[in-house]
Amino acid sequence: MVLKIGALSLPSTIIQSPMAACTDLPFRLIAREKGLAFSFLEMVSAQALVRDNRKTRKLLLSSPQDKPLGAQLLGCDPAIMGEAAAIIEDMGFDLLDLNLGCPVRKVTGNGEGSALLKDPNKAEEVFRAVRNAVKKIPVTVKMRKGFSDPSGDEAVELARRAESSGLSAVTVHGRTQAQMYSGSADYEAIGRVKAAVSIPVIGNGDVVDSEGALRLKSVSGCDGIMIGRAGLGNPWVYRNLHNAMTGASEPEYVPTVAERRDTLLRHLDLEVELLGERQAALNLRRIVVWYTAGLPHNKNLRVGVCRTTDVRAIRAMIEEYFNQLPSDVPAPCAPVLLSE
Ligand SMILES: Cc1cc2nc3c(=O)[nH]c(=O)nc-3n(C[C@H](O)[C@H](O)[C@H](O)COP(=O)(O)O)c2cc1C
Repeated sequence: MVLKIGALSLPSTIIQSPMAACTDLPFRLIAREKGLAFSFLEMVSAQALVRDNRKTRKLLLSSPQDKPLGAQLLGCDPAIMGEAAAIIEDMGFDLLDLNLGCPVRKVTGNGEGSALLKDPNKAEEVFRAVRNAVKKIPVTVKMRKGFSDPSGDEAVELARRAESSGLSAVTVHGRTQAQMYSGSADYEAIGRVKAAVSIPVIGNGDVVDSEGALRLKSVSGCDGIMIGRAGLGNPWVYRNLHNAMTGASEPEYVPTVAERRDTLLRHLDLEVELLGERQAALNLRRIVVWYTAGLPHNKNLRVGVCRTTDVRAIRAMIEEYFNQLPSDVPAPCAPVLLSE
């Protein structure tokens, strides 16, 4: 089973979503080691990229093993989006996605992210400017199902315009901007988008296990499934979902406590190697929460990691914490339901 997006052919229909401050290079390398076929890195501001902002360039850090990889641009000025898109293509990314989903006020207040759902003419100008600026790689768009209208009409309208502007796929997160992360994702609205266009539609929202992935597929008929939060601290999820979607007979893989410890320590090592000790220590404040979700007595470890920037101390705290637990028992990962 493959997911074809423009000229890009992916061996799995399960892909990782862009997530700010989460889907960095160490995260993606670990996910790929455990079976992820395609990942996004987090959104970057088109304006900042065009200005060659140093922090923005850092967010685009990748490596030869980190492929195929999609970048995502945030912005609403067609000329700047076009300019930034050409930079992304020149940097060697395999796909470019446009962010029409970000619900945070700071972003929508500038007319960016999900605010473009309310301005389909402007959105279409952005689609066309980007499509014209990019020569080879597929361009896709990720949107919410609407701004405040829960019907899904806004997503249907924008998906049609994306298709007629030459975009190669659309992803729909089945919530409105107004909902932020409350309620549950509406898979019927994703199905309405699927029925309205011929380009691939990728469904997104609340999938944390095989049952959820199969339900999203059967309700919406979507071509691919994008996983967001379920990948945090659970790099085993991609293979499990891929197996479910392909009807493989392999049982669901559940890591042991020791595997969760070892994967967390490897994540720590990669953070240090690729981002430096200080950044690694700060990032570990989040990462430790992901890998210890659902495990007992994790509070002291989480608090301890927040109190230091010494990577050696963090490693020792992680080892000490896991040493108290029986290492060979299966420890199902619990979803980390953050909001942006
Ligand atoms: C911390 C956080 C950061 C996110 N950053 C982005 C982003 O950079 N670009 C984007 O399109 N969506 C972003 N999202 C939205 C997710 O990609 C995804 O659409 C959403 O979480 C719903 O999917 P899920 O229920 O599988 O997590 C973010 C979500 C969270 C929780």
